[in-house]
Amino acid sequence: MRIAVIAGDGIGKDVTAEAVRVLNAVSRAFGRPIQLEHLPWSADHYLKTGETLPANGYDLLRTFDAVFVGALGDPRVTDNRHARDILLGSRFELDLYVNYRPVKLLDDRLSPLKDRGRKDINFVVFRENTEGVYVSVGGRFKAGTDDEIAIQEEVNTYKGVHRIIRHAFEFAQANGLTRVCMADKSNAMQQGHALWQRVFKAVAAHYPGITATHQYIDAMAMFLVQDPAQYQVIVTNNLFGDIITDIGGALQGGLGMAGSGNIHPGKTSLFEPVHGSAPSLAGKNIANPIGAILSTALMLETLGARDEARAVEAAVETAIARGQTTTDIGGPLGTREAGAFIAEQLKLRK
Ligand SMILES: NC(=O)c1ccc[n+]([C@@H]2O[C@H](COP(=O)([O-])OP(=O)(O)OC[C@H]3O[C@@H](n4cnc5c(N)ncnc54)[C@H](O)[C@@H]3O)[C@@H](O)[C@H]2O)c1
Repeated sequence: MRIAVIAGDGIGKDVTAEAVRVLNAVSRAFGRPIQLEHLPWSADHYLKTGETLPANGYDLLRTFDAVFVGALGDPRVTDNRHARDILLGSRFELDLYVNYRPVKLLDDRLSPLKDRGRKDINFVVFRENTEGVYVSVGGRFKAGTDDEIAIQEEVNTYKGVHRIIRHAFEFAQANGLTRVCMADKSNAMQQGHALWQRVFKAVAAHYPGITATHQYIDAMAMFLVQDPAQYQVIVTNNLFGDIITDIGGALQGGLGMAGSGNIHPGKTSLFEPVHGSAPSLAGKNIANPIGAILSTALMLETLGARDEARAVEAAVETAIARGQTTTDIGGPLGTREAGAFIAEQLKLRK
C-alpha cells in the first residue's frame, strides 16, 4: 500500500504523527508493507512558498492507493485558501462523493447522554461530499458596503443526489442493516430538496427489505440527542452532514473521537479525522489522536485490509477500556503517550 500523508496544520500534525505510528505498528504486526509518503502541503508551506499544492497535485494524489489528512486551517491564512485547495479541492477533483462518517460509541462511560450507551449510539452518516453549498457558486456585489449582496447557491444534481443515496442503501444491504433515514429541509428549500425527495423515494423502491424514512434536518438534530438508537444509516447533503456529524462526534465522547472517509468506490480515497486543526490545542501534546487513528482503520478497511482494520479498532477499544487516553475523554495521557499505547497493543497481538 502506498499512502500519501498530509499532516496539515495545528493539531493535524500532532494526531497524524500518532496515526503514522499506528500504521507502522500494524504494518510490522501483520507483515504487510505500508509505504508512507509525506507531503508538506499546509499553511506553513503556503506562507513560505505561495503554493497551496503543486500544479500536478491532484494527479499526484491519484497515484497513491489512499491519502491520509490530519487537518487544515490556520488563523494566519484568513481566507482559508490553502485548506480549500487541498481538502475541498481533493474532494471535488478526485470526485470523492461519499463522506463516510461512522458514529459508534466505544465505551458507555464516554456517552454524553443520560442512560444511553453503546447499544444506543451506533450508526453511520453518509454525507454528500461534492455538491451543495460548498461548491462556491455565487458572488458578492458591492462588498464591504451597506448595500452588499452575498449569494451562495446550493448545487444539487440528479447524478450527485442519486449516487450518494444509492450508496447508503447499498451499504445498508451489504451490512445487514434495515433502516435508512434521509434528512433534508424540503419544507423550506423547495427546489433542491424536492430533488432529494424524488430520488430518495425512487431509490428506496429498489430495496424492499429496507425501511426508508425521512426527517427534516432540524428534527433530526433534536432526535440525535433524544433518541439516537433509532438510526442505522443516515444520508444527507454536504452542509447538513457536516453539522450533524459534529453532533455525532459529541455522541462518541467528543470531536477527537470521530474518524471519516472521503471515498470514491474503487478509486484513490482520502481519510481524515472529523475534527479541524484546533489551533488553541496545537503542539501542546493534548489533542486526542483517536479520531485520526480510527480514520486509518477506515482506510485499511476500504483498501481490503479488514483484519488490520479490526486490530486497530480493538487496540483503540483496549486503550479506552483501560483509561489510557488523553484528558478530553478522562485519561491521564498526552497525544504521544496515547498513540504509543495504542501502537503497543498492536505489537502485543503478534
Ligand atoms: N477537515 C478539516 O481539516 C477541518 C474540519 C473542521 C474545521 N477545520 C478548520 O480547523 C480550524 C479550527 O476550527 P474549529 O475550532 O471550528 O474546529 P475544531 O474541530 O478544530 O475544534 C473545535 C473544538 O473541538 C475540540 N477538539 C477538536 N479536535 C480535538 C481533538 N483531537 N482532541 C481534543 N479536542 C478536540 C477542541 O475543544 C476544539 O476547540 C479552522 O481553521 C477550520 O476551518 C478543518
